[in-house]
Amino acid sequence: MRKPLIAGNWKMYKTINEATKLVGGLKKELVDFNGVDIILLPAFTALYYVFQAIADSNIQLGAQNLHWEKEGAFTGEISPIMLKDCGCEYVIVGHSERRKYFGETDEVVNKKTKTALNVGLMPIVCIGETLEEREADKTMGVIEAQLSGAFKDFTADEIQGIVVAYEPVWAIGTGKNATPDQAQEVHKFIRGWISSHFSGEIAQELRILYGGSVKPNNIKELMQEQDIDGALVGGASLDVLSFSQIVKGAIAEKK
Ligand code: 13P
Repeated sequence: MRKPLIAGNWKMYKTINEATKLVGGLKKELVDFNGVDIILLPAFTALYYVFQAIADSNIQLGAQNLHWEKEGAFTGEISPIMLKDCGCEYVIVGHSERRKYFGETDEVVNKKTKTALNVGLMPIVCIGETLEEREADKTMGVIEAQLSGAFKDFTADEIQGIVVAYEPVWAIGTGKNATPDQAQEVHKFIRGWISSHFSGEIAQELRILYGGSVKPNNIKELMQEQDIDGALVGGASLDVLSFSQIVKGAIAEKK
């Protein structure tokens, strides 16, 4: 049984003060709620404050990006060791916004994912097609290329415990989420790919999150799908009520 996982990607929102307030509210709403793994992914500047605020709670911390080197002359970058130092256990790799605005390629995603694992950070590897690609019937080809790129030269041991997030680019921040059927089709494909490249057992344990306009009113039907194990939430994770409703809604009977 894969434990549901709900992660809140705060993107470039929340000052330290706003972040600690949000955590305070979430802790109250979600106290003793242990059926779902809950991860917050604040901006770098708020990481350590959020780490302190979630101490002794059921909430875990992650970052939105990392550099692939552990240290060096890389002005403006953040090392994975520094993220661990701030209390992070997870890190997002290859978000579509990083691919689109900052030129991250599958090769970069591969290097970052390897480094994250080397230092003991659990990567949440993001993949997903654009609207143009979906309309041209290229979705599975794009997903396959992103998986092969991200996990190039990975061993079965390395892939174990990793999290994959399927985020169709056309559904991010648009209010237009993929239907549960559309998401399930891609999630099933991802699990099948992992099964054929690593093992059936690893594929069965792999948690695959859906991301793209997840809200309290669509989480339940998404979670009913066999291969949807949780969500990577953007906009709706910035508010105590909507994020805690999503976390609570993540426990659903599978179809
Ligand atoms: P929205 O939930 O705002 O669509 O963002 C999704 C996302 O990009 C999470 O990483």
